[in-house]
Amino acid sequence: MEAQALERKAEMNRELREKLVQLKKERNAIILAHYYQRDEIQEVADFRGDSFLLAQKAASTDAETIVFCGVHFMGESAKILAPNKTVLIPDERAGCPMADMVNVDGLRKLKAQHPNAKVVTYINSSAEVKAETDICCTSSNAVKVINSVDADEIIWVPDKNLGHYVQQHTDKKMIIWEGYCNTHDMLTVKDVVEMRAKHPNAEFVVHPECRPEVVAMGDFVGSTTAIIDYCKNSNTQEFIVGTEDGTGYQLRKDSPDKAFHFASKFLVCPNMKVNNLKKLVKCLETMQPQIYVPPAVADKARISLERMLQVQ
Ligand code: 13P
Ligand code: SF4
Repeated sequence: MEAQALERKAEMNRELREKLVQLKKERNAIILAHYYQRDEIQEVADFRGDSFLLAQKAASTDAETIVFCGVHFMGESAKILAPNKTVLIPDERAGCPMADMVNVDGLRKLKAQHPNAKVVTYINSSAEVKAETDICCTSSNAVKVINSVDADEIIWVPDKNLGHYVQQHTDKKMIIWEGYCNTHDMLTVKDVVEMRAKHPNAEFVVHPECRPEVVAMGDFVGSTTAIIDYCKNSNTQEFIVGTEDGTGYQLRKDSPDKAFHFASKFLVCPNMKVNNLKKLVKCLETMQPQIYVPPAVADKARISLERMLQVQ
């Protein structure tokens, strides 16, 4: 962008931020942002986190309005956990393709084929699928959740890559759905080999939504929060990062002197980037779009989410 255009954008963002402060007070609102959101959103968020921390925060906040800057299933989970609050999302087109890879009919068929199995569903799923679920999990607690379930056989939906990772940490028999994250699944062994050649002193930190052969190359494997904490606390100065590029905001904030190289230019989730500061301000101004979950679905889905929050 040329200098004048940059200055115009900076001025516009300053005005938007001032408006936001005012609106937040008027609406008694809290802004929650996933680590994959644009920097301009993470900068103004009251709370940043991965899927687990954000669900926990939504369940416990006193605010009357939750503005969920993430993708649709995250807003839905917030509404399910806090049914009496207004939950807004800056742009309701922010979906998650992986969440759309499993539906209720498919899951019911699988349940009929495996009547003794319990269903563990990744939080990246619709409210309807959660309503058919015994317990939900996120990438940060998946192993703990699976091992907490009182059954030897588990139906796992929808992420096959995370499922493969979890299978290595449990003796339970997992029946794994064939879904995947379009963004993390793009990262290849070749990408990592090339990055390691360019940055021989760097450690490779990787999210378990990546392909199993890529995850196997990791010096550290963990959820977005686990990766951020690991890089912050490590003595290593340089990292190759195998997760979505928005994570760079928190990584650089925590460790301005360390170097972070994203493992591929494709590690950008277009769905997460649909939200921006302008839409965030507008949704608080108009109080639209609001997340709605039919109460009968929400009541069943809440059981599976609350069970997850109780797993220590
Ligand atoms: P976490 O937030 O659990 O790291 O999951 C990553 C993700 O892809 C969210 O959509
Ligand atoms: Fe869905 Fe992957 Fe984007 Fe997360 S990063 S919202 S799993 S597509």
